[in-house]
Formats: sequence, C-alpha cells, structure tokens
Amino acid sequence: MPNIQTKALALKPLPFEEGEFKFLLSATRDDKRESLVLTRYRDREFFIRIIQRDKDYLIKYDKLTRPSPVSIIQNALKAFSSAHNLEVTFSNIESKKSQSHFQKSDEYLKDVSYFIDKEFQKEVWIEIGFGSGRHLLYQAKKHPEIDFIGLEIHSPSIEQLIKQCKIQNIQNIKVLKFDARIFLQLLPSNIVGKIFVHFPVPWDKKPHRRVISKAFIDEASRVLKVGGTVELRTDSDNYYNYAYELFNSLNSFELEIRKNREIEISSKYEDRWKRLEKNIYDIIYTNTLHSPPKKQIPKFDFEKFIPFRQAVEKLPQKAVVEKDFFIHFEKAFTIDDKSGILRLSFGSFDMPEHKYLIFNDNKIQYFPYQALPIEQNLKSHKKIEELIYG
Ligand SMILES: C[S@@+](CC[C@H](N)C(=O)[O-])C[C@H]1O[C@@H](n2cnc3c(N)ncnc32)[C@H](O)[C@@H]1O
Repeated sequence: MPNIQTKALALKPLPFEEGEFKFLLSATRDDKRESLVLTRYRDREFFIRIIQRDKDYLIKYDKLTRPSPVSIIQNALKAFSSAHNLEVTFSNIESKKSQSHFQKSDEYLKDVSYFIDKEFQKEVWIEIGFGSGRHLLYQAKKHPEIDFIGLEIHSPSIEQLIKQCKIQNIQNIKVLKFDARIFLQLLPSNIVGKIFVHFPVPWDKKPHRRVISKAFIDEASRVLKVGGTVELRTDSDNYYNYAYELFNSLNSFELEIRKNREIEISSKYEDRWKRLEKNIYDIIYTNTLHSPPKKQIPKFDFEKFIPFRQAVEKLPQKAVVEKDFFIHFEKAFTIDDKSGILRLSFGSFDMPEHKYLIFNDNKIQYFPYQALPIEQNLKSHKKIEELIYG
C-alpha cells in the first residue's frame, strides 16, 4: 500500500490546497508519534497518517478511511510531498498500479450499503457460503423470476462466481462479501422464499463462528415469507445435531429431516463427500408465521457537543464488554482543546465496526460514515454516548 518516507517534516499551516487535494486539518496523539491529516479529494474525505519513527517519518494511507481506487491515495501523497518539498528517502507510489481485484460498483458485486433500506420488488432467495457457486448459478438460471443474493467471505470464490455470471449473462444474482451471521438483520421482514446453507464450516472448536445460531434462526424466521424455508445441508454429525436442537427450540415451525437426499445439483464439495461415502443430512425448516415489520434503527447521531478533552478524560482505557456488543476506545488524536479525533471499535463480536469519531465545529460525528444499522451497533452507540457525556 502506498507510503513515502522522509527524514524531516514541518507540517504547513492547515488548511491548504495542492492540485486537486485539500488538506483540511491535522490531529496528533499526545506522544506526538502519530498524526492524522484530514484530506479531501472531490467529494471524498480520508486521512493520511504521519508516523514519526526514530530517524524518519512514514507517511501513508489510513486503512479505515482509504478511498478507492488506490490512485487517489498515491496522488494525495504526491501532492502532500510536493506541498512540503519533502526530501523523500523511500516511495512506492509510482511503482504500484491500481490493484483492486474487483470494483465495488460491479453490476454483480454490491457493497452492503446497497441492501440497506432497499425495497425488493421480487421474491428473494439467499445462498450463504456459495463456494464454487455451482448451486447458486443453477438456481438463478432455473428461476429467473427470483432475485438471488449470494453471500461469501472468501474473495476467490466471489471472483469465480462473478466471472461465471458475466460469461453466462446472469441477470438475477447480486453478490456480497459479507458475514452471513449479520446480514439478515438488514433485510425487511417476509420477503425471502429460500435460504440455502449448504455445507457450512462446522467450526467444532469455535462454535460461536457457526453461521447457524439462535440469533440467525430468529432473523431467518423474520425475513422468510410464510412457507419460506432454510435448507441446511451438512456432512457433519456434530453440526446436524447442534442445528437440529436449535431449530427445535423455536415456537412455530415445520422441520423436515432427510438423510442422503439427492438434490438437483451437487457442489464440488458434496461430490467429494459422496465419493468418500459420507452421510449427508438435510434439515429443512419451514417458517409458518408472518412477522412484524423490521424494527427501524435510528441514525447514530450525537445529540450535543462536548469538548474533546473533557470527553477523553472520562473514557475507559479498557474495552467495555457487554453481553452482545463491546466498545473499545483505541486512540485519541488532539486538534486543540475543544476538537479532536477518537479511533474506536465497537458493535457485534462477529463483525465489529472500526470508525473514527470527529469532535469538531461543535459537532460529534462518525467518520468516514455511520455504522451499519443493526441492533448491536445501536446498543453500542447508546453506550458510547453515555460514556462520552459521562
Ligand atoms: C465448506 S464451504 C461450502 C461451499 C458450498 N456451499 C458448497 O456446498 O460447495 C463453506 C463456505 O462458506 C463460506 N463461509 C464461511 N463462513 C461464512 C460466513 N460467516 N458468511 C458467509 N460465508 C461464509 C466459506 O468461505 C466457504 O466458501
């Protein structure tokens, strides 16, 4: 990732402009070893990080706010360097080309924000952990009347599926690189016809990482239409027993249990188990209840301003851990007594949010954007307010 190194740096008074970049303000840690420079390019704002090392300065991108494509950062570093007439001792900004494997704006690959408050016109089917994508492609071609969402966390599988969607000109699949344990929370109630969970990772040693959980089944029941199904297919005896217990603990449902059922299309993964003559279990859960609309999550705004120093003094050093969420204030960067920037992580243990909080212009705001509108983040936000206001 782009970075430059220099022996000496005297930061110019801010704000200033250089080419297409505007350098707006800087904030520094108490030990002076690290600063953030808020940088604007067209309508995007992000930080450049300056790290003071023993003998030089490292000036680099900031992971949390990094804009895409990477050329924006490269050019920002060039502009910053030329504005300061830096004597650069190392730079990798010329050599690296833009190297994103896939663009978020791809017609198939969507960012999670695409699904927030989306109104779905057609019935939706979801495949979780689609792997090679064989089953998802088969279903999408067979059911053009359905909108499919494919969830995966493994980038090569996503690239492979998108390639196939393009080759086969598939019109009804949207792909998302996102953790399935969280995703269903974002969908409206009663819109999904089927959720396929085929051969999920059993995680016998880390059961909290399993896709199927009580919270997952509750959300699945909410998003499923009456008659909609969750189809769990697994070769793991342990996972089967675990999921069977969970599904059975629900109030209203129908369960169909099958062993070694032949389905229309089998994945590469399934073929392997079949060759080894392993048993394959299906649990097909049918939702029988119409659910109330999804609970609206309000925007994560701060009702009033409080000077930065005053807030920071009260904040706990250690992570605050509650039953289903946590908050960790990681670093404080001071602009002046009233203003500053906090770096923090919070939210669900499965998919924590990493953000900045900027205290400036008599406002407190998340940066670069708000956290996902899910229950764990709402609880965290309320707790963050409580801790900041004291
Ligand atoms: C054992 S493979 C099965 C793939 C495919 N369903 C099949 O039958 O061949 C499990 C897949 O689930 C994906 N996965 C694991 N945890 C996930 C999660 N929390 N959210 C989305 N996908 C996940 C993995 O990346 C992997 O591709």
